[in-house]
Amino acid sequence: MCGIVGYVGSQSALEVVMAGLKRLEYRGYDSAGVAVLADGGLAAAKRAGKLVNLEKELVDRPLPTGSTGIGHTRWATHGGPTDANAHPHLDNAGRVAVVHNGIIENFALLRAELAERGHELSSDTDTEVVAHLLAEEFSGCADLAEAMRLVCRRLEGAFTLVAVDSDEPDVVVGARRNSPLVVGVGEGEAFLASDVAAFIAHTRSAIELGQDQVVELRRDGVTVTGFDGQPAEVRPYNVDWDAEAAEKGGYDYFMLKEIAEQPKAVADTLLGRIDAAGNLTLDEVRISAAELREMDKVVIVACGTAFHSGLIAKYAIEHWTRIPCEVELASEFRYRDPILDAQTLVIAISQSGETMDTLMALRHAREQGAKVLAICNTNGSTIPRESDAVLYTHAGPEVAVASTKAFLTQLVACYLVALYLGQVRGTKWGDEIRAVIRDLSRIGGAVERVLETMEPVRALARSLAGKDTVLFLGRHVGYPVALEGALKLKELAYMHAEGFAAGELKHGPIALIEEDLPVVVVVPSPRGRSLLHDKIVSNIQEIRARGARTIVIAEEGDEAVEAYADHLIRIPVTPTLLQPLVATVPLQVFACELATARGNEVDQPRNLAKSVTVE
Ligand code: G6P
Repeated sequence: MCGIVGYVGSQSALEVVMAGLKRLEYRGYDSAGVAVLADGGLAAAKRAGKLVNLEKELVDRPLPTGSTGIGHTRWATHGGPTDANAHPHLDNAGRVAVVHNGIIENFALLRAELAERGHELSSDTDTEVVAHLLAEEFSGCADLAEAMRLVCRRLEGAFTLVAVDSDEPDVVVGARRNSPLVVGVGEGEAFLASDVAAFIAHTRSAIELGQDQVVELRRDGVTVTGFDGQPAEVRPYNVDWDAEAAEKGGYDYFMLKEIAEQPKAVADTLLGRIDAAGNLTLDEVRISAAELREMDKVVIVACGTAFHSGLIAKYAIEHWTRIPCEVELASEFRYRDPILDAQTLVIAISQSGETMDTLMALRHAREQGAKVLAICNTNGSTIPRESDAVLYTHAGPEVAVASTKAFLTQLVACYLVALYLGQVRGTKWGDEIRAVIRDLSRIGGAVERVLETMEPVRALARSLAGKDTVLFLGRHVGYPVALEGALKLKELAYMHAEGFAAGELKHGPIALIEEDLPVVVVVPSPRGRSLLHDKIVSNIQEIRARGARTIVIAEEGDEAVEAYADHLIRIPVTPTLLQPLVATVPLQVFACELATARGNEVDQPRNLAKSVTVE
């Protein structure tokens, strides 16, 4: 939530910062702004709306060229998305500029104190106080980094701050508490950003910043200290993907590219986790086998799409390991005083690794003595860093706000964790585990086949562009798939969409059915659990009898559904528990195409942000 960039080096800071902001626009797009240090002073520009508005502003009123600068793309919290509330915020002398991600909870008090001391604040934001406080502190101390440390010690809440001051023209200072901030180290230049994507075109050499640290960036080096001024240990790492991975690669939208990348993402997430004999080797799970054998409960916490992957994981975990598994929205978790102890394994699922609700849930779990295993896509992010162990998904950078390939890889990781628990606890035999792994290894190919047959789904989506509501039904693992299908449609097409467990239909939702209402039904495999299959076929008949237009997603060869499907979408045959890996894909394509048909922004849906770093 909110993207931040800082640069010092020998290139044009404005160009570097603007290019970085473009890559971070997924984090917020309510307004954007930049500040550069040039000709002994500080020059800034900012505009409400998307980055393109700022680009126009910079054409109309160019900034002087300088090689130190900062920038921001905003997801509004305090104060509406106006020019005045856009970052950077400056002090009254126009010397200091600050950008911020997070919420400064004690800003009202600080603002009142500043007003008493004669400062004039011109925005409704919580951020502006920092520019004024920095200016005050800097006038009485050695350097901007020290002023930042002093200011940070007075702030409460979650904040990443990046600042420049015209009195130190070759310095950018950053600070981090709770919200993300990464350092990029180049030859004679250095970068700060919310995400490595902002500087990956310049360097793959990065440094993770820890909690409560201040970083000073100069051309010739980077200094990191704690808020107390003590030197901090830094953790450098190399980013294992390149700039090309964060480009659209010929697709109109990142979302289309990311949907298409799913077969590879699934395969990459399995890579290195299966040995030559087909056995599971999860070396990263640093929680010992002895400890895992002691666990008497699994609790999964996550938000949004990641929560849906958790709902599916519950079926696999309970079926394969016989350990009770709860799945909880991270935002609700700590507020209901959950029962946790050393025998609880908490699994925190997050694409970004920065979702504040999930982070707070895992912190609460660890405080209560539970062990936390993170399933995460972003190397070096906060959630894995604060967990006892991490299993990385290898989806590569996901840029579109609506999650697709990350979801499929989260599912793969959940299945691997479930199998691993079954392996160490002896509830699954080796040959059973190998059989599931073989099935998982084939899923990439099955997803590929789904993707090749999506044209009718796209045509159907276009034909429904004028509808107001779409319902989604599923049973067993198909129920979370229905929830995910509905979420995608809400996020992208801004339509009223709801997912239901098909068995619940008769307890209320069936009252919503009216003539020609599109209802998507995810049908379980007719094999094995045929009872479940038969029940959902009855549900399809019930809604059809009441006029619904039935859009049925069913396995190849499932003939029982044919008579009741107004539109039939075929998916390859998979084991029941793995079906979400193929059944979700048509729903992603459906939502993406409907969004396009309705003229919506696919990659940056209104009001959303990809990485939600506020609670
Ligand atoms: C936001 C995004 C969703 C995502 C959710 C959880 O709401 O818009 O697409 O599923 O956050 O994000 P995480 O990074 O924790 O998976």
